Amino acid sequence: MRDLIKLLSITIVISIFCSSCNSNNQANKKSETIIAQSDIKNTKGFKLLESKCYICHFETPDPARMNQMIAPPMLRIKEHYLPNYQNKEDFIKAITTIVNNPSEENTLMPGAVKKFNLMPKLIYNQDELKLIAETIYKYEFGAAPKTRMLMMGDLKLNNGSRWKLKSESVKTIDGIINSLYSFKSNNIKDYNQFGKNIFEQAKFIMLDKSYTGDKFDQIHNFFNGVESDMHLLIQEKSIENAKNTVEDLKIKFNNFYNFFEEE
Ligand code: HEC
Repeated sequence: MRDLIKLLSITIVISIFCSSCNSNNQANKKSETIIAQSDIKNTKGFKLLESKCYICHFETPDPARMNQMIAPPMLRIKEHYLPNYQNKEDFIKAITTIVNNPSEENTLMPGAVKKFNLMPKLIYNQDELKLIAETIYKYEFGAAPKTRMLMMGDLKLNNGSRWKLKSESVKTIDGIINSLYSFKSNNIKDYNQFGKNIFEQAKFIMLDKSYTGDKFDQIHNFFNGVESDMHLLIQEKSIENAKNTVEDLKIKFNNFYNFFEEE
């Protein structure tokens, strides 16, 4: 009995010791990342980001200053670019390319283009721009909740009728739905590429200048509902999840016809 108590107390002491070193470790890790983040803030890259880009871009969404917003917050830009360009070199190249030549062809943020117009083409020192892009890649902007949780449920009819869209837009959606049903692969890379392809097609409906007001808002709602799925698909690593996302997209895209029709 005495041995048992001894054994028990040793076990308890050891486990307390281990758990405390575990939490110490975690605390260390946490403070390391905090230090690393504040280190980034002192780098030349971050200073350049502030002086060259934060003139127009907020770092993170700020609901109190929504009406002063003239460009999407940097956090949102990273949210759109990172899934598409997960490797550092690719990310830097994508950011420098679009900044050097903002275009509807290459935008990953059609909603921002529509809302704020294309980013003006400004001339930057290329080494500085690379440093800025690298900083955006490294810096953790944190996670901000979506300002408007726009989901399919927010889609509304036009006084009981479907919204009329140009036949070209409806054909684009038809094309996407056909490709969703015909797509077959067991290679995750194909799914990632497929996500990019359908995003590329869908974004042009968002960019169409002839859609304004309530009609555009509903197109925007629809796009928001499918956008996160497309982002998921682009960065998905598991074939099982990718297949589920495609299924989800089929349902959401089919829902398009409940709210929109060809004019
Ligand atoms: C004069 C204002 C202005 C400045 C300065 C500015 N931007 Fe922008 N930027 C915008 C606007 C407006 C948009 C949204 C429209 C768009 O996406 O083209 C935008 C969008 C972007 C996008 C998303 C592009 C897309 O459509 O996919 C990136 C990336 C970006 N900015 C990076 C930068 C970086 C990096 C800097 C600093 C080197 C910078 N911007 C400086 C106005 C600005």
